[in-house]
Amino acid sequence: METKNIHSAIFDSRYEVSSTIYTYLRHHWVNLAALTLVVIILRTLYGRFASPCLDNSHRSSDDSDDPAKQTIFLPYTKPFSREEIPMVNATVAGVEIEMPMDTGSIGILIGAPLLPHIDTSKATPAYQYFSSSKILYNGRLVDLPVKFHGRGPDSYAIATVPVLVVDWSVVCPWYDPAVDTFECPPNPDEPEPVLRDVSHITYMGVGFGRNRRGSEQPNTLPSANPFLNIESIDGKPVAKDFKTGYTISTKGVHLGLTEEDERGFAWSKLEPGLTHDDDRRDWAMVKTCFSVDGGSDNCGSALIDTGIQQLYLKAVEGVETPNVTIPNPNPDGNAKFVNRVKTGTKIEIGFSRLNGTVGRYGFKVGGETKMAPSYVVPLKQGDAAFVNTGRNFLFGYTVAFDATGGRFGFRRVS
Ligand SMILES: *[C@@H]1O[C@H](CO)[C@@H](O)[C@H](O)[C@H]1NC(C)=O
Ligand SMILES: *[C@@H]1O[C@H](CO)[C@@H](O)[C@H](O)[C@H]1NC(C)=O
Ligand SMILES: *[C@@H]1O[C@H](CO)[C@@H](O)[C@H](O)[C@H]1NC(C)=O
Repeated sequence: METKNIHSAIFDSRYEVSSTIYTYLRHHWVNLAALTLVVIILRTLYGRFASPCLDNSHRSSDDSDDPAKQTIFLPYTKPFSREEIPMVNATVAGVEIEMPMDTGSIGILIGAPLLPHIDTSKATPAYQYFSSSKILYNGRLVDLPVKFHGRGPDSYAIATVPVLVVDWSVVCPWYDPAVDTFECPPNPDEPEPVLRDVSHITYMGVGFGRNRRGSEQPNTLPSANPFLNIESIDGKPVAKDFKTGYTISTKGVHLGLTEEDERGFAWSKLEPGLTHDDDRRDWAMVKTCFSVDGGSDNCGSALIDTGIQQLYLKAVEGVETPNVTIPNPNPDGNAKFVNRVKTGTKIEIGFSRLNGTVGRYGFKVGGETKMAPSYVVPLKQGDAAFVNTGRNFLFGYTVAFDATGGRFGFRRVS
C-alpha cells in the first residue's frame, strides 16, 4: 500500500507539472511563436553544419539491433544439492532474506512478522495454495522492491513485484484448487487444521506457465515473477533491448540473456501462455514426450522444478505405470499410504522441438545416476501427459527460459 501511495503521488505531481506548462503556454503564446521561429532557424543551421554528428547519433540508435548486453549472475548461497531448494540472497523492502528459488511456482511469499514496517491494512487480499506441500497461504499483496545480490557489493539487480505478505497459513490436504479460494473448507472426517507459524515463511516462485484457466490469482502471472521484472542492473535501468529471461544451473542464475549466456543451448519453442495476449512474457510449459519401460510415447507438458527432489509422472489414458502402495515415509504427511512407481521401472524423457528432441535423458527408478529423481510419484492418467522432473535434472542440463523469444533451452553439463 505504501508503494501504491508513492505511485499516485508521482502521478499527481506529473499532472501538476503538465497543467503548469499548459497555463504558462496559454499566457505566453506570442513569446512562444517567436521562440519557435528561433528554434526552426537554429535547427536549420545546425543541420547544415553538424550533419556528421547527426549521422553518428543515428548509428548509435541502431545499436538496439546488437545483442542485449545486460546480465547479472546470482550465486546460490549453498552448494546445490538433491535435498535442498537452491537459495539466493535478496533484500525485500530493506529486509535481508535468503530466498528459496522455486521454478515450480510464481510469486513471492513472506511472513508478515518479517516485514513489520509494511502496512498491509489496505492492500488486496490474496492467497496461494501449493498442491505439492498441501499448504494454503493467506495474506495481502503489496508491491515491494526486491534487490538481488550478485558477486560483490556493486553487483545487484532490482525488481518491483507484488509480494504476498502472509498473515496465516494452514496445511489443508483436502483443498481443491479448482473450487476452494481463501479458506480451507471444513472436513467432517478431519480435525480442524492448526495454524502454522508464519514468522519464518520466505518463498520465491520464478517459474512460468503455472497460471490456470479461471484462476484470478494475480500472483501466478508473469507480472509477479521477480526474475521477469528486472528494472535495473548494477544501478543502470535495463535497456530497451534487454532480453527478459534467465538461465539456471547448479551454480546459480543468470538474469537477462546475452549472446554469451545463450551459447551452447538447444531450444524448444514454447506455445503462448493463457494471458499472452495481455502480457507477451506469458508462455506455456515446455512440451515433452516420455516412455515407460520402452512403451509408447506419452506427450504433454513438463516442468523442471527446483522446488522438489522427486519426479511426478502422469501418463496418458490406457498407459499403466508399474506402481506400489507403501506406508507414507513422511512422518509429517497426512496420507497413511502413498503410491510410488516401482523400483527398476525404466523412464525415458525428451523435450520437443520441431525436428526432434532436446534435453533427452533416461533412468531406472531407484537408480544411482545423478539425474535420477529421489523417487517417482505416479499421477492418475489423463488426456495429456505431464512430467515434473524435480531439481535433479539440473545435474545433467543447465536450462534457460527466454521470455522475450518464447523458448526454453537445454545445455548439457560438461
Ligand atoms: C548471502 O548473504 C550472507 C549474509 O549477508 C553472506 O554472508 C553470504 O556470503 C551471501 N552469499 C552469497 C552467495 O552472496
Ligand atoms: C498403479 O497400478 C495399478 C495396478 O496395480 C494400476 O491399475 C494403476 O493404473 C497404476 N497407476 C498408474 C497411475 O499407472
Ligand atoms: C534442428 O534444428 C536446429 C535449429 O532449429 C538445428 O540446429 C539442428 O541441426 C536441427 N537438427 C536436425 C537433426 O536437423
